[in-house]
Amino acid sequence: MNRNDIIARCQQNDSTLLSFEDRGPWGDRKWRGNCSGWIQAFLMWKYHTKKFSELFAGSGTGYDVTKDMGISYVGADLNPNPVRPGILNVNAVTDEVPEEFYGADQIFMHPPYGAEIKIPYAGSMYKDPTGELSKSDLGQMPWDIFMKTLNEIVMKYYSAMEPGARMSILMGDVRRGGFHSMFTDIVKPGELEQVIIKAQHNCVSDGRTYTNRNFVPIVHEYIMVLKKLAPYLINFQLPQKYEMDTRDSKTSTWRDVVYAALKKIGRNASLEEIYSEIEGHEKAKSNMNWQAKIRQTLQMSNLFVHDSRGVWAVAA
Ligand SMILES: C[S@@+](CC[C@H](N)C(=O)[O-])C[C@H]1O[C@@H](n2cnc3c(N)ncnc32)[C@H](O)[C@@H]1O
Repeated sequence: MNRNDIIARCQQNDSTLLSFEDRGPWGDRKWRGNCSGWIQAFLMWKYHTKKFSELFAGSGTGYDVTKDMGISYVGADLNPNPVRPGILNVNAVTDEVPEEFYGADQIFMHPPYGAEIKIPYAGSMYKDPTGELSKSDLGQMPWDIFMKTLNEIVMKYYSAMEPGARMSILMGDVRRGGFHSMFTDIVKPGELEQVIIKAQHNCVSDGRTYTNRNFVPIVHEYIMVLKKLAPYLINFQLPQKYEMDTRDSKTSTWRDVVYAALKKIGRNASLEEIYSEIEGHEKAKSNMNWQAKIRQTLQMSNLFVHDSRGVWAVAA
């Protein structure tokens, strides 16, 4: 495709909502999880890229776009028989960043989306007779291991980037075995410069009819653009999951705690039963008059009712 025609189409789509209905003439639509080449084209055009590097290069979509854009390219993929001459056989889990990646002003990644989405690569898109490749295939890792591994890879490739260069990652949410969001779980090194929403067309769910659809269908992916700020400094945000008991939380009010205790008991309850739910927890330990505080909370809130025997319940 002609470079000027590519640029004209990108200019028409210059917003945080990228919506390209076709995938362009690049790469291979039969490669599972392949992406539209318009994504790479847009990113190359937008950021005036001179050397484009690509991890998880797959069917050669990125390589093909760089040829039409007249941009230098290096790619890497676990596939032992890379589909294009510019793609190296690299295991991103175990191997160092290839030297060829140094000096790129943009690195693009379109990783697999974890095992839940059921798109394995090793042993499926290419042979894996010993099963060794499958162990490193991010498409075969359960979510938590997948995200931890991907985050280590992102940090490894960030370390090898040029100051001022950009890392753009195409990723999505998965609703299988629960809802998982790559965007919330991914590490974000450097400066988060842009979040772009990519509209998905021709989704599998488009053709499905649901008798009881109690969820919102996912029809988008994200592109996160990160900029490396300085040669030495690696600043990053790494999401962390926390869990605590509301009875030990500084931000929970007495009303929250008493309400939670009655919900946990699940029926009308005496004062003694409510006390024993809360006793020994930080909320009680930090107040010498904690039992009086519970009585006051019950009496002062319209959330609670009691009968003549002094048995308490959550108001209907
Ligand atoms: C979503 S596909 C990329 C598709 C590509 N954007 C395209 O349009 O064809 C993800 C790719 O990650 C590769 N991959 C999985 N685990 C890998 C690993 N440990 N190291 C390098 N590549 C890996 C797979 O072989 C697959 O080609």
